[in-house]
Amino acid sequence: MAKALEGVRILDMTHVQSGPTCTQLLAWFGADVIKVERPGVGDATRGQLRDIPDVDSLYFTMLNHNKRSITLNTKDAKGKEIFARLIEECDVMVENFAPGALDRMGFTWERIQEINPRMVYASVKGFGPGPFEECKVYENVAQCTGGSASTTGFDDGPPMVTGSQIGDSGTGLNLALGIVTALFQREKSGRGQRVSCAMQDGVLNLCRVKMRDQQRLDHGPLKEYPQYPNGEFGEATPRAGNASGGGQPGWVVKCAPGGPNDYAYVIIQPPGWAPLMRAIGREDLIEDPEWATPEARLPKLDQCFAMIEKWTQTKTKFEVMEILNPVNVPCGPILSMKELAVEPSLRDTGTVVEVDHPTRGKYLTVGNPIKLSDSPTEVVRSPLLGEHTDEVLKSVVGWSDEQVAAARKSGAI
Ligand SMILES: CC(C)(COP(=O)(O)OP(=O)(O)OC[C@H]1O[C@@H](n2cnc3c(N)ncnc32)[C@H](O)[C@@H]1OP(=O)(O)O)[C@@H](O)C(=O)NCCC(=O)NCCS
Repeated sequence: MAKALEGVRILDMTHVQSGPTCTQLLAWFGADVIKVERPGVGDATRGQLRDIPDVDSLYFTMLNHNKRSITLNTKDAKGKEIFARLIEECDVMVENFAPGALDRMGFTWERIQEINPRMVYASVKGFGPGPFEECKVYENVAQCTGGSASTTGFDDGPPMVTGSQIGDSGTGLNLALGIVTALFQREKSGRGQRVSCAMQDGVLNLCRVKMRDQQRLDHGPLKEYPQYPNGEFGEATPRAGNASGGGQPGWVVKCAPGGPNDYAYVIIQPPGWAPLMRAIGREDLIEDPEWATPEARLPKLDQCFAMIEKWTQTKTKFEVMEILNPVNVPCGPILSMKELAVEPSLRDTGTVVEVDHPTRGKYLTVGNPIKLSDSPTEVVRSPLLGEHTDEVLKSVVGWSDEQVAAARKSGAI
């Protein structure tokens, strides 16, 4: 079946996580993604967090599916000649180098437009223009500078980073949307454009509701936060622990048998109060004015969740789900990576996929989270370093065997 982005060719200068997640998504939608890597070295993640000696790491393989890899020294004269030809032949160039790296190679946005005015040139940087724009940035720096860390964790503890890679993978998603939008506009304008995504902006965008709460603080306490009404609010949006953040109170409660991930998330909505009390054996509280309304419960939500927890600790998280979900109490088990890896429904939808790799063997990866009915995703293993150099130089750049051999001898590829 044809793929949505078939015919779009991407010059992929990305490394580590943020850029590669973007180009992997575009490859899953059918784009021909040509990943350019430094000869002999490649993307640094090939060698990082290795679990098997001399085999591309899972860090690399899980971010670079469906791509072709070529090695090219873009600082070498011959390498620059090849690079300029690739810019001519590609629709999109994506990069997430430290600020200024491509300019230093001699490929400024002005130069790229001269070579190919239809080129969409997309970049991830840590920050947009401002005091930090020259900084190199990794995931946790973005989480800390984008408002996530100051609003994550418990009130009496330090700021916390989350396990979700909202700075890297989150910004990669933004970049992919920027690229397809720019390609769509190119259909009408005939011109490419620059797409810039800053990781700080991406994290802040995902923390939008916390900026909302910052402004609400000027008009009184945040009643859905655990600090209300018995604790104190300071000047900034506080950390809310496991509070749901919406209009309905929620919390994480312990379940049997008491392992590190034996917990469930339970939300108390007004229509769920009676069935929830019935389930935990506290019918007496259904009509009790001390407990029956959200207003009455609000000052003692901790006691309320403690009562619920007394019951959940006698059930597994899956039993809690089975009992509460049918009676309209929103809840969810805390699922570990071990459980997610073997969940059959995620295998069925292609969200978790088993891939075979020539030097690694079989491994699991997270597939395309975006499902298109006319453009299904087939996950293809990541390329070995430089696996497609000859093929791309001949079929895309149009070079002969002799020219390729000479470039190899000179160290350009
Ligand atoms: C991620 C990051 C911190 C890594 O920093 P780093 O390991 O020092 O890597 P850099 O991006 O500085 O690139 C290193 C050098 O390799 C060079 N290089 C990369 N590919 C090359 C190639 N194919 N041929 C020749 N040189 C190459 C770069 O030009 C750069 O050289 P320069 O410093 O002389 O300009 C940095 O790239 C960054 O801040 N990126 C933007 C934000 C981002 O995406 N962060 C999240 C990563 S998940």
